Amino acid sequence: MATALPRKVLLGVTGGIAAYKAPALVRALVKAGAEVQVVMTPAAHDFVTPLALATVSRRPVLTDLFARDGSGRWNDHVHLARWADVMLVAPASANTLGKMARGLCDNLLLACYLSAECPVFVAPAMDLEMWRDAGVQANLAALKERGVRTIGPERGELASGLVGEGRMTEPEALVEALQQALIGPSKLAGRTMLLTAGGTQEAIDPVRYIGNRSTGKMGFALAEEAALRGARVELVTGPVALLTDRAGIHRTDVVSAAEMAAACKALFPTCDLAIASAAVADWRPANPAAAKLKKGTALEALTLEPTEDILAWMGAHKQGGQLLVGFALETDNELEHARGKLMRKNLDLVVLNSLRDDGAGFGHDTNRVTLIGRDTDPEALPLLSKAQVAQRILDRVEALMPHA
Ligand code: CTP
Repeated sequence: MATALPRKVLLGVTGGIAAYKAPALVRALVKAGAEVQVVMTPAAHDFVTPLALATVSRRPVLTDLFARDGSGRWNDHVHLARWADVMLVAPASANTLGKMARGLCDNLLLACYLSAECPVFVAPAMDLEMWRDAGVQANLAALKERGVRTIGPERGELASGLVGEGRMTEPEALVEALQQALIGPSKLAGRTMLLTAGGTQEAIDPVRYIGNRSTGKMGFALAEEAALRGARVELVTGPVALLTDRAGIHRTDVVSAAEMAAACKALFPTCDLAIASAAVADWRPANPAAAKLKKGTALEALTLEPTEDILAWMGAHKQGGQLLVGFALETDNELEHARGKLMRKNLDLVVLNSLRDDGAGFGHDTNRVTLIGRDTDPEALPLLSKAQVAQRILDRVEALMPHA
């Protein structure tokens, strides 16, 4: 089963000619959804500029353990190491590999490595003879023994003109290898997933509407995570203030429940699975006014009519093999109501949100949910970031999917 993807990458850049590829590596990591903090060794400055790396990572680049200007400022390596989900040293020079193996600590990168409790990867890059050197190999073996994982080096033409092993793995391939090493192959890869997100707006007149407090954060976190796992995501969203530019996500913007229903009906038949995370309005004004209602209008009551239940429609039209996941937002008798929805709407999984939990629900960056399947006990998750909740939901979805 998949585990957490590397959201926060601490990238250590050391002094080797392959450091000229570091900005491209940062770009590839950011494109893959990571936040990247670059830490350089002093020697790396001879090969690539901090300005280039700071620009592509959108964060200041750090080199020194402490400022040498008498200010007493220092870079907190413990905090940096704890911040990271994964540390990648690329390129990893023979010198840095040796110091890592020996537990030495004369720069910030090494201090971060010694403090890191997250998975650590190194992408060695050096010339052929250096790579073959018994001391370098012994250092690498010692690091591997302690759980450090290596990516590359590759065979090919080296900066010296020699041909052989020693080239740093190319940035795109490095990111791919990092993801594969951390998540393993995903059953969502190559699948098409329909996802509803955000809330809907139901017109009262051309300027007023009935809406709800949904911000779309949970749905967009699901879209990002599914795309990271290789799914093609058909995201149908109500009006939200969120952007996504990740490859693999195709976005359809809608306003009302009726528009969302029409988009979903067109897309669902060609999808392998659907997740309905949208907060769809259950009622809409029966007769929205064509012109703006004036303040003086004697508006004593608003006649409402029910909207179509999109998820129920998908449940009724589900074909063999299609998976359907719904959300349930409850305030009382939560489990019972959520189980009722699972059966009534012909779902495979319900994500139960309780408005009674602190830090859960609309607008928060965190959420606390319970996953309710057909044949399993409810799985109550702790308070997690919405990105982590998305990972856990998709882990459960993958467990329900047949092997490709
Ligand atoms: N949903 C939908 N279309 C609607 C209403 C809801 O697709 N018109 C979906 C939501 O996206 C969510 C699930 O149905 O996945 C649960 O919605 P909710 O409004 O909580 O439940 P209802 O079935 O409407 O029942 P109740 O209002 O009685 O709780």
